[in-house]
Amino acid sequence: MSHENEPAALARDAARILTDRAGVERFDIALTLGSGWRRAADLIGEVISTVPAAEVPGFHASGVAGHGGDLRTVRMPDGRHALIIGARTHLYEGRGVRAVVHGVRTAAAAGARIAVLTNGAGGLDPAFGAGDTMLINDHLNLTGESPIEGAHFIDLTDLYAERLRAVVRSVDSSIREGVYAQVRGPHYETPAESRYLYGIGGTAVGMSTAVEAIAAREAGMEVLGLTLVTNPATNHDGPPLDHAEVLAAGQAAEGRLGEFLARVVPRLTTA
Ligand code: 6GU
Repeated sequence: MSHENEPAALARDAARILTDRAGVERFDIALTLGSGWRRAADLIGEVISTVPAAEVPGFHASGVAGHGGDLRTVRMPDGRHALIIGARTHLYEGRGVRAVVHGVRTAAAAGARIAVLTNGAGGLDPAFGAGDTMLINDHLNLTGESPIEGAHFIDLTDLYAERLRAVVRSVDSSIREGVYAQVRGPHYETPAESRYLYGIGGTAVGMSTAVEAIAAREAGMEVLGLTLVTNPATNHDGPPLDHAEVLAAGQAAEGRLGEFLARVVPRLTTA
């Protein structure tokens, strides 16, 4: 089956396979778990289905160390179902923006009304150190890409819904908010780029999320974005940034972040 030119049809095919394999009618919520956030999957409910990415149209096993490669269905204690998108495609993999947003579109096609997008990122604002969490309140999409094709001019006000941010604050009143800057990568920033990104309003910088959030809005979903700051992006006097160390920082935070997210997700109900 080929849907090279039909992202919506490909998402519907994937959605049908995932709901069939899980034996559910629909998903209520979609979670994309980035660096540091993966433990949450086991804590928010019972995993009732695990499907390898390669068995679902449009998904690809992640080629990146530390990034999972399957799609899981979790039944939450209240009976709702969450789709855990463990096979995130990044722009730097070169498969194009359609592949990057296919998970979000699949979840929307399967009925999900809320997208939780999480990531690991470098801190631009010196107030954010390694291990800090940040509630995303806006983004800078610096990738030059949009998931939207054609003259479809959608509004991005309140993209990271204040309604959902309030839910997060009800779980952790001290969490700080900030602006997530998405770049293409896969290289990290030069010192000049880090200064620039901070200067134009970025709080943290990473290689995911903003483009997915745009696709989620286009699909009519509400978006919640959470960042783990794995390292300062601006610490160019320190040792060179290393992907393995970024992953290790994520792993160190995993238990804490998992428990936090597992408290947030049950409270995320549709407006
Ligand atoms: Cl410093 N930059 C980018 N672009 N992504 C990151 C990062 C930095 N640290 C973790 N992910």
